[in-house]
Amino acid sequence: MGCEPAAPLENALPAPVELADLNPDPNIVEVRLAASVSTAEYLPGKPADVWAFRDASVAGSKGTIPGPTLRAKVGNTVIVHFINELAEPTTVHWHGLRLPNAADGSSSSQSKIEPGASYDYTFTVGDPGSFWYHPHVRGDTQVERGLYAPFIVEGGTAVDVAADRYLVLDDVKLSADGKLSTQTDNLDVMLGRQGNVLLVNGRKLPSLEVASGSRERWRLVNSANGRYFKLSLPGAQLLVVGWDGGLIPEPYKVDSLLIAPGERYELLVTFDGKAGDRLALQTSHYDRGHNVPDPGVKPLMNVVLGAARKSPPLALPTVWRDLPVLAPTTAATAVRRFVLKELETPSGVVFSINDEVWPFNTPVMVKQGDVEIWEVRNEAEMDHPFHLHGMFFEVLEVNGVPETRRGWKDTANVPQARGTTPGILRFAVRYEPLGMWMFHCHILEHAEGGMMGDLMVMP
Ligand code: C2O
Ligand code: CU
Ligand code: CU
Repeated sequence: MGCEPAAPLENALPAPVELADLNPDPNIVEVRLAASVSTAEYLPGKPADVWAFRDASVAGSKGTIPGPTLRAKVGNTVIVHFINELAEPTTVHWHGLRLPNAADGSSSSQSKIEPGASYDYTFTVGDPGSFWYHPHVRGDTQVERGLYAPFIVEGGTAVDVAADRYLVLDDVKLSADGKLSTQTDNLDVMLGRQGNVLLVNGRKLPSLEVASGSRERWRLVNSANGRYFKLSLPGAQLLVVGWDGGLIPEPYKVDSLLIAPGERYELLVTFDGKAGDRLALQTSHYDRGHNVPDPGVKPLMNVVLGAARKSPPLALPTVWRDLPVLAPTTAATAVRRFVLKELETPSGVVFSINDEVWPFNTPVMVKQGDVEIWEVRNEAEMDHPFHLHGMFFEVLEVNGVPETRRGWKDTANVPQARGTTPGILRFAVRYEPLGMWMFHCHILEHAEGGMMGDLMVMP
């Protein structure tokens, strides 16, 4: 087989679509966004009916999966004129952003946006990083059907890279006709729906050409309802440079990277091979509970090394980020305890936090400015990625093992209970923004099934 680097790649990773900024003021990003019905060809020639975000400033534009990227710079004011073109109520949540409560887009911070209705979100972005947006009403259904999109806040230390990409990881459960399966089995309910087709930026096994000898920045988010991705890319070097809350002070090398639903990581990927080499971005099994069998290593994306970049990458920065401690703790810091449980009831599985099942929960009341430690104990037989809206936290310990790396997180995995050891995540948080903020498991079936709570930050 001859290798023709000039020929276009088959099923090339699509270039991202970005929301058009309608405001000439360089400090304001103003966009029109709609949630709409659309179609996607997950399997060639077999369109599926999906729900997707589209740029409503472009007449007749089609919703895409992922939705159009919202790009802003640190300090910008973002105005989103949102319109709901779905046949059911929705909201838009800006996952990971620190913003005023009225703009958080959860069902605890605003009323649902009815079909045909509009809502304006206005907020200022203060933290550079890789975020994402998605609905917060019937998340298990609305996100699964395709409503999710990247949100990039530019700023911070510049890194010399040949490309800066946002890779959104997902999976879909398709029937043979290429449509989204309407079958929900017990495992979907218990573990969060796992698909039979893996997606990178909405594509099944796309291909990407990169320059040999180059370095790229990959922003990763796991937008799947339930699947954990354990990524590897044999033949390339992976350096973790960012977490949920942007760049971290001390990047570290990895061979594989676990990404739980809702989490983001930023990698610098260096391709040392020669032109013509083919690498595979793949995901391997992670035992997240309930004895799910190991399906083996699955490919996600083909990476083809093309011609070398003209000049080698510049040296890496020596200072990545001077990251303030958000929530300094002492031996006297109050510890707030949360227990995650799954209960089989005659009417199905119920998921709870401190024995309360959302929406029949009592808000946790706290005082603005206070620092507390959250101890999240997992008494269920599976992992739960725990997410807090509106603020970042700092992980202190997982199962009693101190976290030695520093970085800001808004979502972190709470490992399953094994034998007599419950899985325990401890993190420190400072309650900053006023209002009602949600916290929940980011396995969306678990969240909608009750594993969700409210945190009321009072003056
Ligand atoms: Cu990404 Cu409350 O969620
Ligand atoms: Cu969120
Ligand atoms: Cu969960």
